[in-house]
Amino acid sequence: MNLKQMVGIESAKFIQDGMIVGLGTGSTAYYMVEEVARRIHEEGLNITCVTTSNATEIHARSLGIPLSTIDEVSHVDLTIDGADEISKDFQGIKGGGAALLYEKIVAHYSKEVIWIVDSSKMVETLGAFPLPVEVIRFGSQQVFKIFQEKGYNPVIRKNSDGEYLRTDSNNLIIDLHLESIPNPEQLADELIHMVGVVEHGLFLNMVKHVIVGYEKGPIILDNPKF
Ligand code: A5P
Repeated sequence: MNLKQMVGIESAKFIQDGMIVGLGTGSTAYYMVEEVARRIHEEGLNITCVTTSNATEIHARSLGIPLSTIDEVSHVDLTIDGADEISKDFQGIKGGGAALLYEKIVAHYSKEVIWIVDSSKMVETLGAFPLPVEVIRFGSQQVFKIFQEKGYNPVIRKNSDGEYLRTDSNNLIIDLHLESIPNPEQLADELIHMVGVVEHGLFLNMVKHVIVGYEKGPIILDNPKF
């Protein structure tokens, strides 16, 4: 079993009957979604799920997982998602799969959030992973120029065909190659107040548990702030 599968299966143990569950996006969340489907069909787990991307929706639907939209549910009990980097103080970068906007919306309305990662995602300080920023297309070159002037080393993300990648909301992603983010709160505040920025990939003060996959088994880290 690979580490992503290990933590995906482990995380699904947190799901209880009657819950409304947020299903994350990415190659690690993929295994969690598979395990959720197995528990529904083999154990009779009775839950409703909301998804964080079109890709996860298609996957979950293909497995017969009961789905609602984020606007149809009163709340979300638990969201399980992957992450690109997690620092020692439980702050994260997400959006490597371009799903950061829906992921942040679902996480915001969740009572609890769990991240599932392999050990390579755990870091001292955030920033080696390029920080994704979702921007509306109109005026995006102006936002790009501002990022350049600030020395944020922006790159507009392209898809495998070499065209600008479009998110599920038809926006663009600008990846900021910062190397290090010494003050994530300050940067998050700056980014969210820029005109044209829809959302950024800093997920701060959000996660309750992190399940980290190691060769010897999964380790569950509990955020002392929750
Ligand atoms: C999707 O946009 C991301 O936030 C993913 O959750 C994150 O990139 C982790 O993906 P992997 O599990 O595929 O590394």
